Amino acid sequence: MNHSSLPPDTANEPLAPGQRLPESERREFSPEAIAEIHAIMARFPDKLAATLPALHIAQREFGFVSLSAMKAVAQAIGTPESHVFGVATFYTMYQKAPVGKFHFSVCTNISCALRGAAQLLEKVCEKTGVKPGQGPSADGMWSVEEVECLAGCGSAPCVQVNHDVYDEFVDEQKLIEVMEACKRGDYRPWAK
Ligand code: FES
Repeated sequence: MNHSSLPPDTANEPLAPGQRLPESERREFSPEAIAEIHAIMARFPDKLAATLPALHIAQREFGFVSLSAMKAVAQAIGTPESHVFGVATFYTMYQKAPVGKFHFSVCTNISCALRGAAQLLEKVCEKTGVKPGQGPSADGMWSVEEVECLAGCGSAPCVQVNHDVYDEFVDEQKLIEVMEACKRGDYRPWAK
């Protein structure tokens, strides 16, 4: 079988005009992650079905889905690298660049926009000290992203902190509480 290859594995190799994919420090899955991926594969008749969950595991293991992470997924599943690359780059919820230990995704789609999402985004940026899409804060704690609908339109505005969604998240005090909980270690960090 003729497997297509991903672009060269260097951090400085352009993938598209103006776009570069950074590298994570890790390049291989832990044995536990490999076992987890194989257990998922065993649940499906087609191993390709494990691509999405394996990419989530990669995100947890590597901190974000780097080119090496995509290659590790392809190897773990035994599937063409081009397939994994296509899936990973299609979905915006796979982070292709480093994010903070606590990643804030602020929805600014229509329902949230009508309920003060712009002001909320401003407040999150002010409190974390980072701008949307500009990578983690200097201490690695925070990152912020402006996102499309989080499927909580009926109780907008919505913010997702790592993997948990908060709706009716309009109160500045609530934001402070969540950030304090993150600092105390009461909140599950983005990656291992
Ligand atoms: S528009 Fe924000 S959750 Fe749907």
